[in-house]
Amino acid sequence: MKPLRIGIIGYGFMGRAHSNAYRKVSNFFDLEYQPVLQAACARDEAKVKAFAERWGYASIETDWRKLIARDDIDLIDIAVPNNLHAEMAIAAAKAGKMILCEKPLGFDSKAAEKMVAAVTKAKVPNMVWYNYRRCPAVVLAKQLIDEGKLGRIFHYRANFLQDWTISAELPQGGAALWRLDVKAAGSGVTGDLLAHCIDTALWLNGGIKDVSAMTETFIKERKHNLTGKVEKVGIDDACAFLCHFNNGSLGLFESTRYARGHKALYTLEINGEHASIRWDLHDLHRLQWFDHRDEGVVRGWRSIHVSDSDHPYMKNWWVPGLQIGYEHSFVHQVADFLKGLETGVPARPDFQDGLATDYVVDAVLASAKSHQWKKVKQVKQK
Ligand SMILES: NC(=O)c1ccc[n+]([C@@H]2O[C@H](COP(=O)([O-])OP(=O)(O)OC[C@H]3O[C@@H](n4cnc5c(N)ncnc54)[C@H](O)[C@@H]3O)[C@@H](O)[C@H]2O)c1
Repeated sequence: MKPLRIGIIGYGFMGRAHSNAYRKVSNFFDLEYQPVLQAACARDEAKVKAFAERWGYASIETDWRKLIARDDIDLIDIAVPNNLHAEMAIAAAKAGKMILCEKPLGFDSKAAEKMVAAVTKAKVPNMVWYNYRRCPAVVLAKQLIDEGKLGRIFHYRANFLQDWTISAELPQGGAALWRLDVKAAGSGVTGDLLAHCIDTALWLNGGIKDVSAMTETFIKERKHNLTGKVEKVGIDDACAFLCHFNNGSLGLFESTRYARGHKALYTLEINGEHASIRWDLHDLHRLQWFDHRDEGVVRGWRSIHVSDSDHPYMKNWWVPGLQIGYEHSFVHQVADFLKGLETGVPARPDFQDGLATDYVVDAVLASAKSHQWKKVKQVKQK
């Protein structure tokens, strides 16, 4: 066993999801590297101390620069708001640390380009936490597509719907509400929710050529928690876009935080020449599958319970038929990252893949602003 000493920045939603993954991964996967929870960092000493005690981190820091400077840390995990990703990642790369960074990679694609340049120059292993690539049903979809079972792909459709920002009384900025503050988040639902849909789409269906988008900010002003003043809202509350994929298929994406009744409805559907697939985060262990080549009278949508031992990742968990959930996607991501270190074949999405998503996000925002189709900058293919 080789210890891999983790220094995590941020103890919020993702700080917990990642810590849980580090703690579980070696119990369920056979790996040469074993994560060691070396240090947790955030600005509030009492809170980060309580977090470190609860999750088993050996030490704390309140200044992320000190964490990065420590020589007893191998890997920096960035689980803080989007405007902080670039500065932390670039400093970590310069210090020769491996980096796992939350999504979206950069505040915008300019920041993401600098992050890619930094990890490339430093030659440090890197990955972006687009965890939905690690849901077994989504991986099964990838396998079916790569085996050619869908044939030519015509349509890719994805939604990510929530309803938690409808109240005009909700302030922007500060703890938990930084997502509503454009200075911390970079954008609204486009960089927060659609970034997930875009990453999965690029993985399953290849690059996106161009986009035509519309966005809306329904509540134009909100009190800002940090200044105490009512300020203009700079994020997009809702976004819908059309696109052409490089493989000739058409894409349709929608996201909002104003869809009453929906909490985290991430759905995707792909229609091919022979077959279609559908996936829904609320039912994440199932893959819906329709194959036109089935015998006519029994042809119909099948609901595959992705829990058998020959399904992706599932032999590492329980007996066939017993399902797993959201948090396991993070465990799988850590397992794949560690396996990549072991085999020398790096796990993805790496920073360059994260940049590809940021290019689409930027093109979507630019298209919505200009009311024009926008070409998407392409990353070098690997
Ligand atoms: N992969 C996913 O599914 C997913 C889900 C949620 C969030 N995210 C991403 O994860 C990141 C964090 O989101 P979250 O929901 O965990 O946020 P959060 O608000 O729950 O937690 C943010 C953390 O950052 C810390 N922080 C803020 N400024 C800091 C600083 N200067 N130095 C040190 N720590 C600082 C806060 O103390 C807090 O612990 C974001 O980039 C977000 O887009 C990804």
